[in-house]
Amino acid sequence: MENNSGLNIMTARGSAKAKYPKRILGLVGSPRKLGNCEVFIKDISNNIETPHELNLIRLPSLNIQPCNACYGCIMGNPCPHSDDMGFLLNTIEQSDAIIIATPVYYLGAHSVFKKILDRGFLFYNYIEKTYEKPCILINIYGIKDRIGMSPQMLMTFASFLCLNIKASVHIKAALPGEILVDKSNRKKAKKLAELLFSDGNTIRKYGCPYCGCDIVRIEKQKFICTLCHSHFSINNSGKRIKIKDGGIFGPPDHMYKHREWLRGMKGRFLEKRREILKSTIPYKDVGKWVKPPTS
Ligand SMILES: Cc1cc2nc3c(=O)[nH]c(=O)nc-3n(C[C@H](O)[C@H](O)[C@H](O)COP(=O)(O)O)c2cc1C
Repeated sequence: MENNSGLNIMTARGSAKAKYPKRILGLVGSPRKLGNCEVFIKDISNNIETPHELNLIRLPSLNIQPCNACYGCIMGNPCPHSDDMGFLLNTIEQSDAIIIATPVYYLGAHSVFKKILDRGFLFYNYIEKTYEKPCILINIYGIKDRIGMSPQMLMTFASFLCLNIKASVHIKAALPGEILVDKSNRKKAKKLAELLFSDGNTIRKYGCPYCGCDIVRIEKQKFICTLCHSHFSINNSGKRIKIKDGGIFGPPDHMYKHREWLRGMKGRFLEKRREILKSTIPYKDVGKWVKPPTS
Protein backbone atom coordinates (compact mmCIF):
# COMPACT_ATOMS: atom_id res chain seq x y z
CA MET A 1 0.00 0.00 0.00
CA GLU A 2 1.38 3.40 -0.91
CA ASN A 3 1.49 6.79 0.70
CA ASN A 4 0.90 10.08 -1.15
CA SER A 5 -2.53 9.68 -2.76
CA GLY A 6 -2.09 6.00 -3.52
CA LEU A 7 -4.61 3.20 -3.25
CA ASN A 8 -5.54 3.92 0.38
CA ILE A 9 -6.83 7.37 -0.22
CA MET A 10 -8.56 6.53 -3.44
CA THR A 11 -10.51 3.71 -1.77
CA ALA A 12 -11.79 6.05 0.86
CA ARG A 13 -12.38 8.92 -1.52
CA GLY A 14 -15.74 7.91 -2.96
CA SER A 15 -17.66 9.80 -0.34
CA ALA A 16 -15.07 12.51 0.37
CA LYS A 17 -15.69 16.03 -0.91
CA ALA A 18 -13.10 17.25 -3.40
CA LYS A 19 -10.78 19.89 -1.98
CA TYR A 20 -10.00 21.32 -5.42
CA PRO A 21 -12.21 21.99 -8.44
CA LYS A 22 -10.51 19.34 -10.56
CA ARG A 23 -9.47 15.78 -9.91
CA ILE A 24 -6.65 14.46 -12.05
CA LEU A 25 -5.91 10.78 -12.03
CA GLY A 26 -2.42 9.49 -12.80
CA LEU A 27 -2.34 5.87 -13.91
CA VAL A 28 1.20 4.67 -13.33
CA GLY A 29 1.97 1.62 -15.46
CA SER A 30 5.35 0.96 -13.86
CA PRO A 31 6.06 -1.04 -10.73
CA ARG A 32 9.14 1.14 -10.07
CA LYS A 33 8.76 3.58 -7.17
CA LEU A 34 9.87 7.07 -8.27
CA GLY A 35 10.42 5.59 -11.73
CA ASN A 36 10.05 7.61 -14.91
CA CYS A 37 6.30 7.04 -15.33
CA GLU A 38 5.56 8.16 -11.81
CA VAL A 39 7.74 11.26 -11.67
CA PHE A 40 6.77 12.43 -15.15
CA ILE A 41 3.07 12.30 -14.29
CA LYS A 42 3.85 14.26 -11.11
CA ASP A 43 5.84 16.83 -13.08
CA ILE A 44 2.93 17.35 -15.49
CA SER A 45 0.62 17.80 -12.51
CA ASN A 46 3.02 20.35 -10.95
CA ASN A 47 2.77 22.36 -14.16
CA ILE A 48 -1.01 22.37 -14.44
CA GLU A 49 -2.28 25.78 -13.43
CA THR A 50 -5.86 24.70 -12.77
CA PRO A 51 -6.13 23.94 -9.05
CA HIS A 52 -6.47 20.20 -8.77
CA GLU A 53 -5.77 17.17 -6.68
CA LEU A 54 -3.58 14.48 -8.18
CA ASN A 55 -4.62 10.95 -7.34
CA LEU A 56 -2.40 8.09 -8.35
CA ILE A 57 -2.92 4.43 -8.98
CA ARG A 58 -0.01 2.08 -9.49
CA LEU A 59 -1.65 -0.28 -11.97
CA PRO A 60 0.66 -3.30 -11.58
CA SER A 61 -0.31 -3.37 -7.87
CA LEU A 62 -3.96 -3.93 -8.69
CA ASN A 63 -5.62 -7.31 -8.62
CA ILE A 64 -6.96 -7.70 -12.17
CA GLN A 65 -8.21 -11.17 -13.02
CA PRO A 66 -8.38 -12.54 -16.57
CA CYS A 67 -11.75 -12.30 -18.33
CA ASN A 68 -13.66 -15.62 -18.21
CA ALA A 69 -15.38 -14.80 -21.52
CA CYS A 70 -18.72 -15.61 -19.89
CA TYR A 71 -20.37 -12.57 -21.56
CA GLY A 72 -22.31 -12.05 -18.31
CA CYS A 73 -21.58 -8.31 -18.11
CA ILE A 74 -22.58 -7.92 -21.76
CA MET A 75 -25.97 -9.41 -20.87
CA GLY A 76 -26.33 -7.00 -17.90
CA ASN A 77 -25.15 -9.34 -15.13
CA PRO A 78 -22.42 -8.53 -12.60
CA CYS A 79 -18.89 -9.68 -13.37
CA PRO A 80 -18.12 -12.93 -11.49
CA HIS A 81 -14.68 -11.60 -10.50
CA SER A 82 -14.38 -9.54 -7.37
CA ASP A 83 -11.11 -7.78 -8.00
CA ASP A 84 -9.96 -4.17 -8.49
CA MET A 85 -11.63 -3.51 -11.87
CA GLY A 86 -14.60 -1.78 -10.26
CA PHE A 87 -12.32 0.38 -8.13
CA LEU A 88 -10.26 1.35 -11.17
CA LEU A 89 -13.21 2.18 -13.43
CA ASN A 90 -15.08 4.05 -10.68
CA THR A 91 -11.97 6.14 -10.00
CA ILE A 92 -11.56 6.95 -13.70
CA GLU A 93 -15.26 7.87 -13.83
CA GLN A 94 -14.87 10.23 -10.86
CA SER A 95 -11.84 12.03 -12.33
CA ASP A 96 -11.88 15.09 -14.57
CA ALA A 97 -8.76 14.14 -16.53
CA ILE A 98 -6.42 11.19 -16.74
CA ILE A 99 -2.68 11.01 -17.31
CA ILE A 100 -1.56 7.53 -18.29
CA ALA A 101 2.07 6.45 -18.39
CA THR A 102 3.59 3.10 -19.26
CA PRO A 103 7.12 1.80 -19.42
CA VAL A 104 7.82 0.02 -22.69
CA TYR A 105 8.37 -3.65 -21.92
CA TYR A 106 9.34 -5.95 -24.77
CA LEU A 107 8.15 -3.57 -27.46
CA GLY A 108 4.73 -3.04 -25.91
CA ALA A 109 3.04 -1.29 -23.02
CA HIS A 110 3.19 -2.94 -19.60
CA SER A 111 1.01 -6.07 -19.62
CA VAL A 112 -1.31 -4.60 -17.02
CA PHE A 113 -2.92 -2.49 -19.76
CA LYS A 114 -3.75 -5.63 -21.72
CA LYS A 115 -5.08 -7.29 -18.58
CA ILE A 116 -7.40 -4.35 -18.02
CA LEU A 117 -8.38 -4.17 -21.68
CA ASP A 118 -9.27 -7.84 -21.74
CA ARG A 119 -11.95 -6.92 -19.20
CA GLY A 120 -13.08 -4.12 -21.48
CA PHE A 121 -16.67 -5.37 -21.83
CA LEU A 122 -17.07 -3.72 -18.42
CA PHE A 123 -16.18 -0.36 -20.00
CA TYR A 124 -19.71 -0.21 -21.46
CA ASN A 125 -21.02 0.48 -17.95
CA TYR A 126 -18.84 3.59 -17.70
CA ILE A 127 -18.46 5.23 -21.10
CA GLU A 128 -21.47 7.49 -20.68
CA LYS A 129 -19.44 9.19 -17.92
CA THR A 130 -15.90 8.75 -19.23
CA TYR A 131 -16.75 10.01 -22.74
CA GLU A 132 -14.59 13.00 -23.73
CA LYS A 133 -12.64 13.15 -20.49
CA PRO A 134 -9.26 14.57 -21.51
CA CYS A 135 -6.27 12.29 -21.24
CA ILE A 136 -2.57 12.31 -22.02
CA LEU A 137 -0.72 9.14 -22.96
CA ILE A 138 2.96 8.69 -22.20
CA ASN A 139 5.20 5.84 -23.32
CA ILE A 140 8.62 5.72 -21.70
CA TYR A 141 11.30 3.57 -23.26
CA GLY A 142 14.94 2.89 -22.52
CA ILE A 143 16.61 2.00 -25.82
CA LYS A 144 16.79 4.32 -28.82
CA ASP A 145 13.84 3.69 -31.18
CA ARG A 146 12.76 0.43 -29.47
CA ILE A 147 9.30 1.64 -28.64
CA GLY A 148 7.48 -1.08 -30.56
CA MET A 149 3.68 -0.93 -30.43
CA SER A 150 3.35 0.61 -26.98
CA PRO A 151 1.62 3.85 -28.15
CA GLN A 152 -1.01 1.80 -29.97
CA MET A 153 -1.75 -0.15 -26.79
CA LEU A 154 -2.31 2.97 -24.68
CA MET A 155 -4.42 4.53 -27.42
CA THR A 156 -6.53 1.38 -27.56
CA PHE A 157 -7.06 1.55 -23.80
CA ALA A 158 -8.08 5.22 -23.95
CA SER A 159 -10.23 4.83 -27.06
CA PHE A 160 -12.36 1.99 -25.71
CA LEU A 161 -12.98 4.15 -22.65
CA CYS A 162 -14.07 6.95 -25.02
CA LEU A 163 -11.47 9.31 -23.54
CA ASN A 164 -10.40 12.39 -25.45
CA ILE A 165 -6.73 11.81 -26.29
CA LYS A 166 -5.00 15.18 -26.14
CA ALA A 167 -1.53 13.84 -26.81
CA SER A 168 0.34 10.58 -27.14
CA VAL A 169 4.05 10.98 -26.55
CA HIS A 170 7.07 8.73 -26.30
CA ILE A 171 10.08 9.72 -24.30
CA LYS A 172 13.42 7.99 -23.89
CA ALA A 173 14.60 7.55 -20.31
CA ALA A 174 16.08 4.30 -19.06
CA LEU A 175 17.25 4.72 -15.47
CA PRO A 176 14.55 5.12 -12.84
CA GLY A 177 13.63 8.81 -12.56
CA GLU A 178 16.21 10.03 -15.06
CA ILE A 179 13.47 11.55 -17.22
CA LEU A 180 13.57 14.70 -15.08
CA VAL A 181 17.32 15.21 -15.50
CA ASP A 182 16.86 16.19 -19.14
CA LYS A 183 15.59 19.77 -19.32
CA SER A 184 13.79 19.16 -22.62
CA ASN A 185 11.56 16.65 -20.84
CA ARG A 186 10.66 19.29 -18.25
CA LYS A 187 9.55 21.48 -21.16
CA LYS A 188 7.49 18.60 -22.57
CA ALA A 189 5.79 18.16 -19.21
CA LYS A 190 4.90 21.85 -19.19
CA LYS A 191 3.44 21.67 -22.70
CA LEU A 192 1.42 18.59 -21.86
CA ALA A 193 0.18 20.35 -18.72
CA GLU A 194 -1.05 23.26 -20.83
CA LEU A 195 -2.74 20.91 -23.25
CA LEU A 196 -4.72 18.81 -20.79
CA PHE A 197 -7.59 21.23 -20.13
CA SER A 198 -7.22 23.20 -23.38
CA ASP A 199 -9.37 22.86 -26.50
CA GLY A 200 -6.47 21.65 -28.63
CA ASN A 201 -4.80 18.34 -29.16
CA THR A 202 -1.72 17.12 -30.96
CA ILE A 203 -3.02 13.73 -31.89
CA ARG A 204 -3.87 13.85 -35.59
CA LYS A 205 -0.84 15.70 -36.89
CA TYR A 206 0.66 12.48 -38.29
CA GLY A 207 -0.17 8.76 -38.28
CA CYS A 208 -3.67 7.62 -39.18
CA PRO A 209 -5.60 10.64 -40.51
CA TYR A 210 -8.72 9.45 -38.67
CA CYS A 211 -7.40 8.75 -35.17
CA GLY A 212 -3.69 9.59 -35.10
CA CYS A 213 -2.44 6.09 -34.31
CA ASP A 214 0.93 5.53 -35.97
CA ILE A 215 1.00 1.73 -36.05
CA VAL A 216 -0.47 0.37 -39.26
CA ARG A 217 -0.91 -2.83 -41.21
CA ILE A 218 0.27 -2.62 -44.75
CA GLU A 219 -1.89 -3.95 -47.55
CA LYS A 220 -1.53 -3.54 -51.28
CA GLN A 221 -1.55 0.22 -51.98
CA LYS A 222 -2.95 1.16 -48.59
CA PHE A 223 -2.49 1.24 -44.83
CA ILE A 224 -4.97 -0.08 -42.32
CA CYS A 225 -4.82 1.58 -38.93
CA THR A 226 -4.38 -1.03 -36.17
CA LEU A 227 -6.51 1.10 -33.83
CA CYS A 228 -9.56 2.51 -35.61
CA HIS A 229 -9.16 0.17 -38.62
CA SER A 230 -9.63 3.00 -41.10
CA HIS A 231 -8.02 2.70 -44.52
CA PHE A 232 -5.73 5.38 -45.89
CA SER A 233 -2.85 5.92 -48.27
CA ILE A 234 -0.07 8.46 -48.69
CA ASN A 235 0.36 10.19 -52.02
CA ASN A 236 3.62 11.13 -53.74
CA SER A 237 3.81 14.47 -51.95
CA GLY A 238 3.43 12.77 -48.56
CA LYS A 239 -0.20 13.82 -48.06
CA ARG A 240 -2.37 11.34 -46.21
CA ILE A 241 -5.42 10.35 -48.23
CA LYS A 242 -8.44 9.03 -46.37
CA ILE A 243 -10.08 5.99 -47.97
CA LYS A 244 -12.55 4.52 -45.50
CA ASP A 245 -13.46 5.10 -41.85
CA GLY A 246 -13.08 1.95 -39.76
CA GLY A 247 -16.21 2.82 -37.79
CA ILE A 248 -15.03 1.25 -34.54
CA PHE A 249 -14.99 4.30 -32.27
CA GLY A 250 -17.45 7.08 -31.57
CA PRO A 251 -19.68 8.43 -28.84
CA PRO A 252 -21.31 5.97 -26.40
CA ASP A 253 -24.40 5.49 -28.62
CA HIS A 254 -22.13 4.31 -31.39
CA MET A 255 -20.18 2.02 -29.06
CA TYR A 256 -23.39 0.43 -27.72
CA LYS A 257 -24.16 -0.85 -31.23
CA HIS A 258 -21.24 -3.22 -30.87
CA ARG A 259 -22.57 -4.35 -27.48
CA GLU A 260 -25.89 -5.11 -29.19
CA TRP A 261 -24.07 -7.17 -31.76
CA LEU A 262 -22.24 -9.03 -28.98
CA ARG A 263 -25.56 -9.68 -27.22
CA GLY A 264 -26.86 -11.19 -30.43
CA MET A 265 -23.97 -13.66 -30.35
CA LYS A 266 -25.70 -15.59 -27.59
CA GLY A 267 -28.69 -16.27 -29.83
CA ARG A 268 -26.43 -17.15 -32.72
CA PHE A 269 -24.50 -19.57 -30.52
CA LEU A 270 -27.68 -21.27 -29.33
CA GLU A 271 -28.78 -21.70 -32.93
CA LYS A 272 -25.48 -23.26 -34.01
CA ARG A 273 -24.66 -25.04 -30.77
CA ARG A 274 -25.50 -28.58 -31.88
CA GLU A 275 -23.50 -28.23 -35.06
CA ILE A 276 -20.51 -26.74 -33.21
CA LEU A 277 -20.57 -29.42 -30.50
CA LYS A 278 -20.66 -32.14 -33.13
CA SER A 279 -17.28 -30.99 -34.38
CA THR A 280 -15.70 -30.14 -30.99
CA ILE A 281 -16.74 -33.10 -28.80
CA PRO A 282 -14.40 -35.56 -30.53
CA TYR A 283 -11.51 -33.32 -29.41
CA LYS A 284 -12.50 -33.42 -25.72
CA ASP A 285 -9.90 -35.97 -24.61
CA VAL A 286 -7.16 -35.23 -27.12
CA GLY A 287 -3.81 -34.39 -25.45
CA LYS A 288 -2.81 -34.22 -21.81
CA TRP A 289 -3.14 -30.99 -19.78
CA VAL A 290 0.17 -30.29 -18.04
CA LYS A 291 0.00 -28.24 -14.84
CA PRO A 292 2.61 -26.81 -12.47
CA PRO A 293 3.19 -28.98 -9.40
CA THR A 294 1.23 -27.99 -6.29
CA SER A 295 3.40 -27.42 -3.24
C1 LIG B 1 11.25 -6.19 -18.60
C2 LIG B 1 11.66 -4.91 -19.28
C3 LIG B 1 11.52 -4.82 -20.65
C4 LIG B 1 11.89 -3.67 -21.32
N1 LIG B 1 11.72 -3.58 -22.66
C5 LIG B 1 12.05 -2.45 -23.31
C6 LIG B 1 11.86 -2.36 -24.72
O1 LIG B 1 11.35 -3.25 -25.38
N2 LIG B 1 12.23 -1.20 -25.34
C7 LIG B 1 12.81 -0.16 -24.64
O2 LIG B 1 13.15 0.85 -25.28
N3 LIG B 1 12.97 -0.22 -23.31
C8 LIG B 1 12.61 -1.33 -22.62
N4 LIG B 1 12.76 -1.39 -21.26
C9 LIG B 1 13.26 -0.22 -20.53
C10 LIG B 1 12.16 0.60 -19.85
O3 LIG B 1 11.14 0.92 -20.77
C11 LIG B 1 12.72 1.87 -19.25
O4 LIG B 1 13.67 1.53 -18.28
C12 LIG B 1 11.70 2.82 -18.66
O5 LIG B 1 12.37 3.96 -18.19
C13 LIG B 1 10.95 2.22 -17.49
O6 LIG B 1 10.09 3.20 -16.94
P1 LIG B 1 9.90 3.34 -15.35
O7 LIG B 1 11.15 3.99 -14.80
O8 LIG B 1 8.70 4.18 -15.16
O9 LIG B 1 9.73 1.94 -14.83
C14 LIG B 1 12.41 -2.56 -20.58
C15 LIG B 1 12.54 -2.67 -19.18
C16 LIG B 1 12.18 -3.83 -18.55
C17 LIG B 1 12.30 -3.92 -17.04
